[in-house]
Amino acid sequence: YQEKALMNQHWVITAGPTREAIDPVRYISNHSSGKMGYAIAQAAVNAGAKVTLISGPVNIPEPSSVELINVMSAEQMHQQALLKAKGADVFIACAAVADYRVVEIAEQKIKKTADNHHMQINLVKNPDIVADVAALSEKPFTVGFAAETQDVEQYALDKLTRKNLDLIAANNVALSGQGFNSDNNALTVFSATSQQDISLMRKSDVAEQLVDIIAEQLGEKR
Ligand code: C5P
Repeated sequence: YQEKALMNQHWVITAGPTREAIDPVRYISNHSSGKMGYAIAQAAVNAGAKVTLISGPVNIPEPSSVELINVMSAEQMHQQALLKAKGADVFIACAAVADYRVVEIAEQKIKKTADNHHMQINLVKNPDIVADVAALSEKPFTVGFAAETQDVEQYALDKLTRKNLDLIAANNVALSGQGFNSDNNALTVFSATSQQDISLMRKSDVAEQLVDIIAEQLGEKR
């Protein structure tokens, strides 16, 4: 019997896209597969943590031994995240949350008619889940993600400060063979004072390294 590194720790992870309803049959969403978040959840479980995975709609297998909470919209994810993050040791925001949601979801299917060639949908900003978790009085060690296509470091550091995060994992989604939907990823992990690179490899291996980095930084903070 070997004691595992994250025994007695509770980690909460968001993953996947959110789905913002327009009417009973339509929605706004994005291409997030949930693979990175699910891989992190599995790596944290393997290291001995109790893991709550708050997931938007995805089509990948459920990690073993996690508490899985399925949600659809950003508002549902926000509610569950704040509930579960209270008293947790680590919160990792891996979800691709829709920035905006539809102001008034139509009760019936919106019909096209002969004369409406143009139509508008009114959107309102969704709550920032990771920023609200980082603002909790008992704040868990909070990790965000930054998917950028340019000026990766500058935008990542800006998010780290603005959202009051402890760490941010940045990836360049413009590079081929990594990021959204891919089975591989490469990350640069920033704290306010440090920078560590995780080279391009399988998401399961990236997740293991990220979990190691978080555990190390958490140990230093305590
Ligand atoms: O601001 P931006 O969406 O680029 O920030 C990305 C980070 O913030 C990710 O960690 C993402 O999960 C989180 N986020 C969130 N709630 C939102 C928007 C982003 O938790 N409404």
